Amino acid sequence: MQCPSAEGPAFLVVKAYPTSIYGNDYALNKVAVRLVKIRIWSNDETRGNTGRGVETVTRKLQAVKSVARATRAADNQISQGNISEILLELNSLVGLVAVKKLIEEIYCFVEIQKKRQKEKLAIEPLGLHMIFKGNPGTGKTTVARILGKLFKAISVLPKGHLIEVERADLVGEYIGHTAQKTREQVKRALGGILFVDEAYSLARGGDKDFGKEAIDAIVKGMEDYRDNLILILAGYQDEMNCFIETNPGLRSRFPIQISFPDFSSREMLSIADLMLQQRQYFLSNGAREEFLSIIEREHKRHEHSGNARLVRNLIERDIRRQAVRLLPRSSTLSRKDLMTIIREDLEAPIN
Ligand SMILES: Nc1ncnc2c1ncn2[C@@H]1O[C@H](COP(=O)(O)OP(=O)(O)O)[C@@H](O)[C@H]1O
Ligand SMILES: [Mg+2]
Repeated sequence: MQCPSAEGPAFLVVKAYPTSIYGNDYALNKVAVRLVKIRIWSNDETRGNTGRGVETVTRKLQAVKSVARATRAADNQISQGNISEILLELNSLVGLVAVKKLIEEIYCFVEIQKKRQKEKLAIEPLGLHMIFKGNPGTGKTTVARILGKLFKAISVLPKGHLIEVERADLVGEYIGHTAQKTREQVKRALGGILFVDEAYSLARGGDKDFGKEAIDAIVKGMEDYRDNLILILAGYQDEMNCFIETNPGLRSRFPIQISFPDFSSREMLSIADLMLQQRQYFLSNGAREEFLSIIEREHKRHEHSGNARLVRNLIERDIRRQAVRLLPRSSTLSRKDLMTIIREDLEAPIN
């Protein structure tokens, strides 16, 4: 009898894994197979020994299975650690209480469906395409990126990357061009999320506009790659509501709708603290007060100023101003001086 080759037992291990409806246990299986092969080659008994027959094969198989079990347990642990980190990242975002709650719901739903599948119970179709409604700078792209990572960690998507596109990336200039451009973007997003920003603009030109062709190609992509692609359509609240109303087929295809409200002044101050902390700066007490009053003035000037992009622009400007203030006395600066943004750095009016 031939000595068992690496392929023999490894193949059996692959068969021993349940195949998930979520489609990408395949990648884990491949890792397991690789590890199993290495283990077999480092085991003396398997090299060129042809004399022990069935008993040896059985022992090899048991060894292979136990390596596979250990690999699977290790994979589970890595993925659990990953999930906690991703949920922590989500929870460290300021505000967005309803958004966080909904994402937690989606996460629990997917995990329970997986457990039900293991018990051979009926499972709900996942239907995870979404509509994000909110003004610019309210965290839509940030949350979509975190969702991609989460979906990868819980095996809903094999890659979990985010491809962000807008009308110009999808709509072409002549008949047939739009479908081709859109298909290319769908292909780039396979295994992850296709995030269409200002999606309502695809319906703007009416039936004769190529935008409609892009919507059709997106819908086709969703159907063709059901287990391998999640679509998120994003845009201003009112425009997105109108877009969904005028395209009734979309409502059932995008069962999850999430609203991203504008941030309050206090939330914007917390976002500033967070952004500065990430850059190893902080606001002095006087600067915090000034920051809040700048934000409140902005709220009075613009209806939709409650956004984190404004905060980012402000703190980046303050960091530059701090540098201008510090450079003339750069030989005497302490670590704390280099980190502190003071009231004076904020005081000039916003352009
Ligand atoms: N809730 C939040 N907490 C902290 N930072 C945030 C939050 N929401 C957005 N940001 C930051 O604000 C900036 C703009 O957010 P983004 O997700 O691009 O907004 P949108 O896609 O809605 O225009 C990013 O730098 C992001 O990290
Ligand atoms: Mg965005």
